[in-house]
Amino acid sequence: MPPHRFIPLAAAALILGLAGCAGQRSVTVIKLAHTLDQSHPVHVAMAYFGERLAAKSGGTMRVELYSGGQLGSERECIELLQLGGLGMTKISSSALEGFAPEYRVFGLPYLFRDEAHRWAVLNGSVGREVLLSAESRFLRGLCYYDAGTRSFYTVNRRVEKPEDLAGLKIRIQESQLALKMVRALGAAATPIAFAELYTALQQGVVDGAENNPPSFHLSRHYELCKYYVLDEHTAVPDVLLISAHLWRTLTPQQQAWVQAAADESSVRQRELWTDATAASLAAVKKAGVEVIIPDKNLFRARVASMQAEVARDQPRIGALAQRVRETTP
Ligand code: GCU
Repeated sequence: MPPHRFIPLAAAALILGLAGCAGQRSVTVIKLAHTLDQSHPVHVAMAYFGERLAAKSGGTMRVELYSGGQLGSERECIELLQLGGLGMTKISSSALEGFAPEYRVFGLPYLFRDEAHRWAVLNGSVGREVLLSAESRFLRGLCYYDAGTRSFYTVNRRVEKPEDLAGLKIRIQESQLALKMVRALGAAATPIAFAELYTALQQGVVDGAENNPPSFHLSRHYELCKYYVLDEHTAVPDVLLISAHLWRTLTPQQQAWVQAAADESSVRQRELWTDATAASLAAVKKAGVEVIIPDKNLFRARVASMQAEVARDQPRIGALAQRVRETTP
């Protein structure tokens, strides 16, 4: 078992870091763990969150960032938040599907018409409701970060249309919706933690995966996968979460500072995202990856029935999806 997999109970208070001492003042230190690289725009936004929180609180609140899965996978971080062993995490909303069903709505393929529609939803009533939907399960969402759109990348098969995916083993997040989608496209889906994916690709455990350009680039998966087909099947956002155990120990003033700093970091992250995406695409091309622009309608047609199926089997998610479709920027 890797060392980060086990966090002794005695360390739990330290991880929540509720009170350290800086001179006479009590400083609240919040540990925030995630799986991305430090140069990723989402990490940069979280560093900004820490700066803003320190500034707003006059230095009485501080954020300690743990990147690259140091404290565990997304699932493990979510579980630690629920137990009160970790203060905050940043995960993909797909990773929350098993903990808070409302987040499933964002895993529906081709749900958003465009970026303006997506942000109208995330910053509107649906987005807010979903963020607060799991408070009773100790997971309070603070804000969304842009995770762009996800597309397939493969080690050695050039994919231009859904038929080209036939028989390939594709890594997915721990997401019921991703499983349905990949199967509908004719491939075999294998859930693997993000931090373990490089090795899985290298050893041929899977033939490909799917992600947004910055994550494809900064995880260095492009060193192994030479084809990236921009079918843009989903646009699952990233989510900044705080443990409700920690949230409830904060004063109303501290809660307001945390929320305001999160909101500011979300705005900053969206500003960084577009350039980061373009830079990542340029970098992977330069490294020899073929970036393919397919006819997205071919992919869309293969997964079109998923929205009706989910509405039939999970009416709550269907109702949320309906509200998403009715949202206008
Ligand atoms: C995105 C997302 C991560 C997630 C990763 C994944 O990169 O930002 O939070 O871990 O996808 O595919 O697991």
